[in-house]
Amino acid sequence: MNAPHLPVLLQEVRRVFVPLARGTLVDGTLGYAGHSHALLADHPHLRLIGIDRDQEALDFSRKRLEAFAERTTLIRGDFASVVAGMSPDDFQGLLADFGVSSLQLDKRERGFSFESETLDMRMDTRSALTAHTVVNTYSHGELTRIFADYGEIRSAEKLADRIITARTQHPIDTARQLSALAREHFPTRGKIHPATLMFQAIRIEVNDELGQIDALLDALERLRPSGAVIALITFHSLEDRRVKQRFKRWTRSCVCDPLAPRCTCGNDHHLGTLPARKPIIASRDEQRSNPRSRSAKLRTFVFKEAHHEA
Ligand SMILES: C[S@@+](CC[C@H](N)C(=O)[O-])C[C@H]1O[C@@H](n2cnc3c(N)ncnc32)[C@H](O)[C@@H]1O
Repeated sequence: MNAPHLPVLLQEVRRVFVPLARGTLVDGTLGYAGHSHALLADHPHLRLIGIDRDQEALDFSRKRLEAFAERTTLIRGDFASVVAGMSPDDFQGLLADFGVSSLQLDKRERGFSFESETLDMRMDTRSALTAHTVVNTYSHGELTRIFADYGEIRSAEKLADRIITARTQHPIDTARQLSALAREHFPTRGKIHPATLMFQAIRIEVNDELGQIDALLDALERLRPSGAVIALITFHSLEDRRVKQRFKRWTRSCVCDPLAPRCTCGNDHHLGTLPARKPIIASRDEQRSNPRSRSAKLRTFVFKEAHHEA
């Protein structure tokens, strides 16, 4: 079965989950099951809970994982609420490979690509907010905020001005029109499309991508699944910063005020360990053969074993 998406850092993810011979793995971003398929094949006793917001991805993966159907449960939903509804013993590993898949980007009707004839960008086509609504109804202040915060665009305010001027004359109905505005606004630099950061910002807003990551981390912090291995793959600094800071906080053993003269907290507050301080990145070969992998960073965290009272 030809997958429409190449999984990034596949060998590295397989290595991270070597200890997961038994138990249940949650794949929070199942996509086209590239990672899940390999992990189910590696571990004949592993069970999988695969989550995706995108029905097309789930339909594809259901077929791809047919040989493992007895060990597989697929759920349509967002990973933050599905994981928040679980109990700590429900899983022993969790993988998330954030962002959009190549298929979502390439299918013009999904409205993620620069040349799309629609303006949609929803991963879950049941949700109410589309890119069309953001671009055509958000206030100047709201547009400036998302361009500045989610696209880290320095000229966010001017870009918002340009959009408001354009849409006052005629609604902006397609991604292609939006790309044309970006071309007028940004000087072309190298091979990167001038609309890249603007599209990233709108996509993050439409899918609440950063809110989802924060809520997933909140759920894990609350659940503290005993001994569980967590592997998260991020694609830009806004995502990576969140994961990095939260994992670091989870390793802190002493939670006293840094100005306190001595530790009074018991110095036993760490939730687990970081197997590596630095993120794992793609090899040169992978970066050459899969351009998406160039910005991928894999960070892992291992929750400590809970000692149940006898
Ligand atoms: C980069 S792809 C994952 C690819 C997958 N690892 C593979 O090997 O085929 C990301 C997938 O996660 C889904 N996704 C992104 N954010 C999500 C969320 N908050 N909840 C559920 N699914 C999400 C997207 O719909 C997309 O299918």
